[in-house]
Amino acid sequence: MRQGRACAGRPIAPERLRLYAFLTSACYEEHEAYFPTTSARYLEYAYFRESSPQEVLGFWENTLGLVRRGAAPAEMGLYVHWPFCVSRCSFCFCSMRVPGGGAEAAGYLRGLVEEMRFFSPVLRGAPLRSVYIGGGTPTHISCGQLDVLFGAIRGSFTVAPDAEVYIESSPATLTPAKMERLRRLGVTRVTLGVQSLDQRVLEAANRPQSLAGAEKAFRLIADKGDVLADVDLMLGLQGQSEASFLRDFIRVLRWGPHDLRVYAFDPRRSTAFARSGKTLSAGKRREERDLADVLDQIAAMSGYRNASLDLDDPACLCTITRQCNRARSQGASVLGIGPSAVSHAFGSAWYYQPFRRGEVWGPPSYAALESPVEEEMRGYCIRHLATYGGVAFRGFRGLFGRELRDVGQVWRALEDLEASGKVHIGDEGVASLMRGDRADMLVHLKHLYSGRVVSAMLKASGRTPSDFAAAGGRERAGVLAKVADKRTPAILRMYYDAERPRPVPGGARP
Ligand SMILES: C[S@@+](CC[C@H](N)C(=O)[O-])C[C@H]1O[C@@H](n2cnc3c(N)ncnc32)[C@H](O)[C@@H]1O
Ligand code: SF4
Repeated sequence: MRQGRACAGRPIAPERLRLYAFLTSACYEEHEAYFPTTSARYLEYAYFRESSPQEVLGFWENTLGLVRRGAAPAEMGLYVHWPFCVSRCSFCFCSMRVPGGGAEAAGYLRGLVEEMRFFSPVLRGAPLRSVYIGGGTPTHISCGQLDVLFGAIRGSFTVAPDAEVYIESSPATLTPAKMERLRRLGVTRVTLGVQSLDQRVLEAANRPQSLAGAEKAFRLIADKGDVLADVDLMLGLQGQSEASFLRDFIRVLRWGPHDLRVYAFDPRRSTAFARSGKTLSAGKRREERDLADVLDQIAAMSGYRNASLDLDDPACLCTITRQCNRARSQGASVLGIGPSAVSHAFGSAWYYQPFRRGEVWGPPSYAALESPVEEEMRGYCIRHLATYGGVAFRGFRGLFGRELRDVGQVWRALEDLEASGKVHIGDEGVASLMRGDRADMLVHLKHLYSGRVVSAMLKASGRTPSDFAAAGGRERAGVLAKVADKRTPAILRMYYDAERPRPVPGGARP
């Protein structure tokens, strides 16, 4: 680290921080956005604008032009969404449906194939380094349909010989015949959603599954040693005690999955749990956090290294971030196929297909947000500060061919973060000092957002900067109460504290 360097930035003004706090809660809770890039939620679907198939094709043409000029990573991923499931688990927030009959899934599959063919002429030449089939439950489909799906993937695109091919699965849908078919089709990794092994918890969650069935499904994947077997567990489910969760955790550790991910139940509005009017107490969240330390220790003691226990980081749920480490660290391009799939055409745009729960599948419609290269640079810094603890100058130079210091606005924003005590700028990179609470981190990272993203967020929240500055405290409190995210109380506290009229000496009103 450099010695004696004077900080050139200025601390971020409290008014800006209040604006970022407002944006964080408004755009998240109002629209139940996912967050395709990072835990810092750099981009949220809430403020994407309407787009069209032709336009998204143009995004890809532009991105491939950047790749040819060496200005975008050549890495490409494919995500395909299969929304159907045997039943709806009450905890689940995924874009899923229980199909009305076989015709619905067959029609949806035809739509996926058509969409892949639509992109094929432009993207066939770009080798896919990873393919991820998520859901829903992709192994809900028949062996014949798996053939059609993989035939369309391989027929429309160039899957690199060393590509990782992932699929999500569940104990209720994985049969020996399907597993064999997946092997033949070149699947390299299966994530088995186990969630819980406690019969009472499973019943309360409306999830038909048994302990023996879950272990059998795991063995089907893992026993031949040629396919990586991952397991997902959930913590904080209805009726789940600490003891019941720990039993499951230890049992699954003994199975020896390649990756074991523990997700804290997130009671978003799309879950049957939230729609039935139930809420999760803050106390329960605290207990979960305490338990996370215990889990870390158990995993470490058993020598198991691949447990991901960051219970406070819902970004790890996003399939793009799971897709492959390189895509994850670089924000490389990913083509998403099917409703709810998110696409990232590096240097051009982020876009996705809205998932219309309960509607008949129609032709693809898209919502997009432009992402020129400078936007990618901001996203890169945010992602690295939030997820990896810092931005290395070398990595940045390797990806963008420029020194981070020379990217004027981004660099100035980093200097302001340094003046606010949130980062340290050293000789080799920018280290995050944001060790405080998560809400504080999110608010500060928003300082790296571009004007374009901030105005898109304000537009989506129905506010303008002058509304924000001029509106009376009560009205603002009303807006916030409407969008209040119970999971980010610290953000609200910051806002309310800032808004509460301060006592004036002598008792006079301001
Ligand atoms: C797309 S789901 C697929 C799961 C698979 N269909 C199954 O039945 O297990 C991926 C993962 O999201 C996690 N998940 C689903 N709903 C969640 C929620 N409300 N909060 C936290 N994690 C959730 C589960 O752990 C699940 O394995
Ligand atoms: S957890 Fe899996 S099976 Fe259950 S509703 Fe969600 S996607 Fe479907």
